[in-house]
Amino acid sequence: MKPRLLELDRRHVWHPYTQASSAREPLLIERASGSRLYDSDGKSYIDANSSWYCAVLGHDHPRLVAALRDQLERLPHVALAGITHEPAVLLAEALVQKAPGELSRVFYSDDGSTAIESALKLCVQYWHQNGKPERRRFVALDSAFHGETLGATAVSGVPVFRRPFASVVLDCVHLPPELDGPERAFSALEALLERDAARIAAVVLEPVVQAAGGMRIYDPALVRAARELTRRHDVFLIVDEVFTGFGRTGPYWALEHAGVEPDLLCLAKGLGGGLLPFAATLATERLYEGFLGAPERTFFYGHTFCGNPLGARVALELLRVYEDERVIEQAEPKAQRIARAFSRFGELPGVERARSLGMVAALDLTAEGYLGTLGKAVYAEALRRGAYLRPLGDTIYVTPPINIPDPDLDELLEIVGASVQHALEQARP
Ligand SMILES: Cc1ncc(COP(=O)(O)O)c(C=O)c1O
Repeated sequence: MKPRLLELDRRHVWHPYTQASSAREPLLIERASGSRLYDSDGKSYIDANSSWYCAVLGHDHPRLVAALRDQLERLPHVALAGITHEPAVLLAEALVQKAPGELSRVFYSDDGSTAIESALKLCVQYWHQNGKPERRRFVALDSAFHGETLGATAVSGVPVFRRPFASVVLDCVHLPPELDGPERAFSALEALLERDAARIAAVVLEPVVQAAGGMRIYDPALVRAARELTRRHDVFLIVDEVFTGFGRTGPYWALEHAGVEPDLLCLAKGLGGGLLPFAATLATERLYEGFLGAPERTFFYGHTFCGNPLGARVALELLRVYEDERVIEQAEPKAQRIARAFSRFGELPGVERARSLGMVAALDLTAEGYLGTLGKAVYAEALRRGAYLRPLGDTIYVTPPINIPDPDLDELLEIVGASVQHALEQARP
């Protein structure tokens, strides 16, 4: 069966973020449990990136699976227009209680990209119908990544992803990447807003860590600066916690590093517990009220599966598991283990820069970013040693499940060190 599946895959499946002409054969994964993936030969791989950051509690947390099964038998799906249901209502209540600041309204969608898309559209339409239609430009950070739709692409700043679409996307100004010096970024944003606030709908950012842009950790002072300046100029602040939420950077929300309250908060990935695509965009009462009144003020937007009962039920259970199992507190010593290991890796000759924050850590082998090739050698060696460690070009990183068992974590860190060393040795002339 394996050769046939791989042959059919080669013929018909178009894999994401994959250059088919040079990609290695994909792993044929049959099942997943805890922090491990199992292939068709029974070999296991530690899932070093929680399957693109979503399996925050591993792959088969018994309470999430039980909630999903139970919901499947009651109500798998129904549209949310003119209808409501218990999981959507209770989840909305739980999210507004848990979220930072004065967010009181929850708009559901499918994934990180649509959570961002919803936020962008909410801002544009808000200004359009509340007296400032010229406010339709966005401000984002260089190296940001906010997703795949054209709206999300517009505010993303990874050049290799954005370049082909640069001429067809929304108007967005990207701030220069002086993330190591928040004062300079602050001045750049200050100057931009002083000059142009009348045309700006919102500033959007990933708080404290830019994920797909290269696991770039930056000073929370920049997030605070963005909040202060957007308030001063009455511009919305959209915060994208799609990657950073649910303890990825240590606290429950990365915004806690900065003590900032956003106007819009985008959640996805971990929210669906790694079982289902599910997303939410949380908004303030001011935004919500800006859509009340005449029929044409309606937010004419909604994805078929928004608020899907299965996803909502799993997300609600996830929030409860975080409290009951004290997931954030339990992760603290794990984060310290990761930090210690990556600070050792930073000493390896050939490693350019190692860094970590909470349950995310990264190192660069070159400055070539996505088009670097050394990362592929690390990937291959890590697979051989039993970890699925998918680099971003030449940036090697780990974002394991927040509750990864200590023995798995130690094994993963050992594999990272050995695989990086192996790749660097192979690359030496
Ligand atoms: C910060 C951030 N926002 C948005 C997205 C897009 O999420 P999705 O792939 O679920 O559309 C991602 C995906 O990696 C992300 O890291």
